[in-house]
Amino acid sequence: MEKIVLPEIKDLHILDVYIKNGGFEAAKKAFSQSTDDIIDQVKKSGLRGRGGAAFSAGLKWSFMPKATDKPKYLCINGDESEPGSFKDRQVFEFNPHQLIEGTLITCYAIGAKTAYIYIRGEYHKWIKLMQKALDDEYAAGFIGEKMKEKFGTEFYCDIYIHKGAGAYICGEESSLMNSLEGKRGYPRVKPPFPAQNGLWGCPTTINNVETIANVPPIISKGWEWFSKIGEPKHPGTLLFGISGHVNKPGVYELPTGTLLTDLIYNYAGGVPGNKKILCVIPGGSSMPPLRGDQIEGVKMDAESLKAAGSAIGTGGVMVMDEDTDLVKVLARIAHFYHHESCGQCTPCREGTGWLEKILKRILAGKGSSNDLDLLITVANQIEGNTICALGEAAAWPVKFMVDRFRDYFEQRVGKEINLPVANKVHSMRHTATPLAEIKN
Ligand SMILES: Cc1cc2nc3c(=O)[nH]c(=O)nc-3n(C[C@H](O)[C@H](O)[C@H](O)COP(=O)(O)O)c2cc1C
Repeated sequence: MEKIVLPEIKDLHILDVYIKNGGFEAAKKAFSQSTDDIIDQVKKSGLRGRGGAAFSAGLKWSFMPKATDKPKYLCINGDESEPGSFKDRQVFEFNPHQLIEGTLITCYAIGAKTAYIYIRGEYHKWIKLMQKALDDEYAAGFIGEKMKEKFGTEFYCDIYIHKGAGAYICGEESSLMNSLEGKRGYPRVKPPFPAQNGLWGCPTTINNVETIANVPPIISKGWEWFSKIGEPKHPGTLLFGISGHVNKPGVYELPTGTLLTDLIYNYAGGVPGNKKILCVIPGGSSMPPLRGDQIEGVKMDAESLKAAGSAIGTGGVMVMDEDTDLVKVLARIAHFYHHESCGQCTPCREGTGWLEKILKRILAGKGSSNDLDLLITVANQIEGNTICALGEAAAWPVKFMVDRFRDYFEQRVGKEINLPVANKVHSMRHTATPLAEIKN
C-alpha cells in the first residue's frame, strides 16, 4: 500500500536521509515552473484539506490575490487539539522535511515570503523536533536567503514555528491568526476571508500540516498519479488516527475510501475481547457519531461519510465497545467544548454550558426524557448561530448521539418529571427558564 505522507523509510527525519530519498527534487521542479502551473497541478490532483473541512487546496491557493503590494503569508495549522486527533505530530516526528518542502512549494505558489508553523503548546517534544529540522535546513541553505544559491532562483522564504498556548479555539484559522498576531484567540467574522484579509490585514493561506506534506509528492510524481489513489472525489491517502477500544491504536496511512470496518478489524486489530461495537466517531470528537450497526460498508472519505450521516473531519476514529457508558462519554465531550468555547458568541458560550449541565444531570441519575429533547433543542440553538464552527463542533456530537442512541439514553433517564420544556421549544429565551433551575 502506497504511503505518501509517512513512507516507511528509516531515519527519514534526518536531513541527509531525506535528501538521499529524493528530498527537494519536487521543490527544484516546482521552482522551474510558473506559480499558476503549480496551483493548477494541485487543483487537478484533487488534494483536499486534511484539517477538517476537506476544501480543495489548489482552489484555496488560487484565492490569493496576485496584484497586491502587501506581503503574503502562509500558516501551517499544527494546532491539532481535536480530541481523537494525533496525526500531525507523526509528520513532525517522522517526516518533517517533507512538510518543510511542501511549505517552500506552497509559499512559492502563493507568493508568500514568510510561513508560520503553528504548533499546539503541549507538543513540546514535536516543537523541538520540528525546530531541529528547520535549523538543519537553514544551515544547509534550503530555507531563507541562501535558497537563491541552493536552488538558483530569485525566490526565497523564511519559516518560523509559533507555539500555541493550549487553546482548542486557536486551531480555528481566524483565531490562529489573531493568536499569531499576539491578540486574544477570538475567531474573526468571515468574510473577509484570509486570502483577502489575513495576518496583519494581508493575504494569507492557512492549511493543515498533512495537507501541505502531500504537496511534494504531487509535484514530483504528478497530479494524475495522486488523483488515481483512493476515492476520485477525495483522492490520496489519509492519516487515520484510531483510538479507543481497539487492540492496536495508532496512526495508519491508508487510501481514502478504505472501509471503516477494515480500519478497525484488519489494521487496528479489532476490539479487545471481541466485544461488539456500540459507537464509532469517525473524524474527531466533533463529528456525528455512528451506531455500531451503521458502520458496515462505510468508506472513509469525505463524500462517503457525508452519505452515511457523518463527516471525515480529521480522520480521528474513536471506537467504543458495547460496555461503554455513552452518557459519560458525551458528558466528557460536552465538558471539553464548554471549557474550550472562547466565549465570544452567546449561543456557544451559554449553550455549551447548558449541554454539559444537562448531561451531568443525566449522568447523576437525575435526568428525564425531557432532558433529551432539551439537549437537542439547545444543540440546535448553537448550530449555525456562531462566528466559527466551534458551535457545530459542540452541537453535533450531542445532537447526533442523543438522536441515534435515543433508546439507550431513554433507558438512562428516570421517569418523566414534566419540566415545562419540550422538543417544540425553539428559542433560547424559553429554554433558559427551566435550565436556570438546574442545580448540580
Ligand atoms: C474550533 C476549530 C478548531 C480547529 N482546529 C484545527 C486544527 O487543530 N488543525 C487544523 O488543521 N484545522 C483546524 N480547524 C480547521 C481550520 O479552521 C482550517 O479550516 C484548516 O486549518 C484549513 O486547512 P486545510 O484546508 O488544509 O484543511 C479547526 C476549526 C475549528 C472551527
